[in-house]
Amino acid sequence: MQPKGLSRKTVLAELKKIRKLDQCYDDGKILCSMCTKPHPLAEKAYQMFFGSNLGDPGLFQGSVKLEKEAVQDLATLLHGKNAVGFLVSGGTEANLIALLASRNIAKVIQPEVVLPESAHFSFTKICNLLNLKPVYARLDSSFRVDPSDLEKCINKNTVAIVGTAGTAELGVIDPIEELSEVAMRHNVYLHVDAAFGGLVIPFLASAKPNFDFNLKNVQSITVDPHKMGMAVLPAGGILFRDAKMLDYVKTETPYLTDQVQYTFVGTRSGAPAASAWAVFKSLGTEGFQKIVDNCMKNTKLFANGLKENGFKLVVEPMLNLVAFRGENTKSLAEKLWARGWFVSYIPRYDCIRIVVMPHIKRKHGVAFLKDLMEIEKL
Ligand SMILES: Cc1ncc(COP(=O)(O)O)c(C=O)c1O
Repeated sequence: MQPKGLSRKTVLAELKKIRKLDQCYDDGKILCSMCTKPHPLAEKAYQMFFGSNLGDPGLFQGSVKLEKEAVQDLATLLHGKNAVGFLVSGGTEANLIALLASRNIAKVIQPEVVLPESAHFSFTKICNLLNLKPVYARLDSSFRVDPSDLEKCINKNTVAIVGTAGTAELGVIDPIEELSEVAMRHNVYLHVDAAFGGLVIPFLASAKPNFDFNLKNVQSITVDPHKMGMAVLPAGGILFRDAKMLDYVKTETPYLTDQVQYTFVGTRSGAPAASAWAVFKSLGTEGFQKIVDNCMKNTKLFANGLKENGFKLVVEPMLNLVAFRGENTKSLAEKLWARGWFVSYIPRYDCIRIVVMPHIKRKHGVAFLKDLMEIEKL
């Protein structure tokens, strides 16, 4: 910090200059992100609540109401009649809170969690933090976790099993219905990581797999408004089947207006909750349906265009993600980056991954395919 403050004009001019270093969703070139340009009303709501603190709820009753109602909307969407939860800093914190609950419920000395090999890397962090031993279950030929292999990984130390409804790398939905049966047979906690898919699957036009609280043994679900919910980040979401489970994640907070907290983050802004609330109220399920329809239409455009031009899809897209391979996929990804197309290269599958978020329009897909074919000809 310099000793003398700068003028408002100088600070704003400098910020404007530095802002140009950030990529912009509107360009349609960010194809590697599971976040998107927030809905215009989400931005407005965020500004209105940007100073509030959900960590001290007694002072910010309005923000508390917005968080409760946004969580209720998510719970209804995911068939959680008695579900409760919070808007947290992201899918990582949501998954953390779920596994904390499972560990505290089970009370075993050397706790283990069974994860699909495709589980999000947030679980690696969580296992480190919670001192859980991760045990990985194999995937089948369509990259979904194999329930029978997962079942074999369960032992007396297992505190939870996890399934993903929309993997980060391929957008695959694990067979949650079968995992729910495994959970019942072994009386073990089942957490569903639907950080991405939770706001897509309910709106799919094609057959929707069962993945939520409709399944009796699903105890918690991660579902993030800052991904397909178009809320301003940080807005992750954790839902528990019922309020009883909150006892297992409770921390006493003696000097605050409320005497307990359930989230990992203490001081947390109410603005993301306001933004999620605004999107849910403004779009309703019909609005979300249109957004998902459009993303899936554009996903088809990418997938068909890639296949027609000789690329191989790793899997047929279940959600709005396309993963494909070429001759030398890593070098292709580098060439795409050099042309300003921000795609992910996934070493595990040697593929390029595109996430067809709401900021990706048809014209961006067409331009991408044209550029891709130009690169291939060079
Ligand atoms: C399936 C899944 N789980 C968890 C996460 C972690 O979410 P966050 O980055 O919001 O913490 C992601 C992020 O993309 C994800 O796709």
